[in-house]
Amino acid sequence: MKILLTGGAGYIASHTCIELVKSGHTPIIVDNFYNSQKEAISRVEELCGQSIPFYEIDVCDKEAMSVIFKEHTIDAIIHFAGYKAVGESVAKPLAYYKNNIDSTISVCELMKENGVTKIVFSSSATVYGLAEKVPLKEDMPTGGCTNPYGWTKYMIEQILTDFANANKEMNVVLLRYFNPVGAHESGRIGEDPVGIPNNLMPYICQVAVGKLKQLAIFGDDYPTPDGTGVRDYIHVVDLALGHVAACEFDCKGVEVINLGTGVGYSVLDMVKAFEEANGIKINYTIAPRRPGDIATCYSDATKAKKLLHWEAKHTLVDMCKDSWNWQKNNPKGYNK
Ligand code: WQD
Repeated sequence: MKILLTGGAGYIASHTCIELVKSGHTPIIVDNFYNSQKEAISRVEELCGQSIPFYEIDVCDKEAMSVIFKEHTIDAIIHFAGYKAVGESVAKPLAYYKNNIDSTISVCELMKENGVTKIVFSSSATVYGLAEKVPLKEDMPTGGCTNPYGWTKYMIEQILTDFANANKEMNVVLLRYFNPVGAHESGRIGEDPVGIPNNLMPYICQVAVGKLKQLAIFGDDYPTPDGTGVRDYIHVVDLALGHVAACEFDCKGVEVINLGTGVGYSVLDMVKAFEEANGIKINYTIAPRRPGDIATCYSDATKAKKLLHWEAKHTLVDMCKDSWNWQKNNPKGYNK
């Protein structure tokens, strides 16, 4: 299949590109490099041993995007493109709604106009909001999101559902990611957050490499085994393989699927696992809770196994080793 990856130079998309090639598919990348680096594409080509067609276009620019459909017969789209910083979304809600919603509507219109009937959407567990119970299952209520970023994911799921209901030929898979971490085993591609990382693993890695002084653990008074927040961390390569399986999955209409491990680890579990896997001490302090955080979030991953014949295989040690391998070989990320 020829598959268009919007936001294709990003962290999860670049790893997905490699797995698509390994599975015999042909990826095409479109990215405006708002939150990614062109160098990532060069690294992907190096790892794939082949060139990857790419277009530097804003997905919201439908006219510019139409060139891609004139030059290629696209079989499926994986829609990664979108702003994704929780904190930034609180400060700039209109930019988040405009960009994330407009880009999605642009993609849907291009699909209709060009006879593309398959889309896989990069959604997030954040759509479950302040869930009452765990593990989170796909049929549990969504909404009650705690930030505009989460609401854009929730709204886009609704847009794509209505789009599929109005166009019976459409095949829509909504993938709800839990907490992606890790990197390709080569250490040549990985997560390269802009500025100070919001997320735990890149923050730990930047403390380990000496770029940041100390990790602040946001609260140790949650109702969890050790008091720190519990999350379902999933290796980015497992996540990438889940996208390949979703592209190959033939469903009519809409399917919502969790991509997680089904196992929750606390912040202190992650710090300890990172220290033991890499032989590095992580300097941390206990800080107040971060507004909007929930105590515990992890997936019920059984639907992905049943429908996609997919399950996460990488271990916590793999996640810690591969994260560190990327960081230590790229202390400044892609800005060599
Ligand atoms: C994990 C745990 C923090 C940083 C977010 C988005 C979600 C998805 C994944 C896009 C929590 C604790 C963190 C730090 C800490 N993104 N922590 N110190 O908040 O579960 O999910 O990223 O789809 O939509 O909401 O991930 O890595 O920020 O936090 O103690 O410096 O680590 O409190 O318990 P989160 P996270």
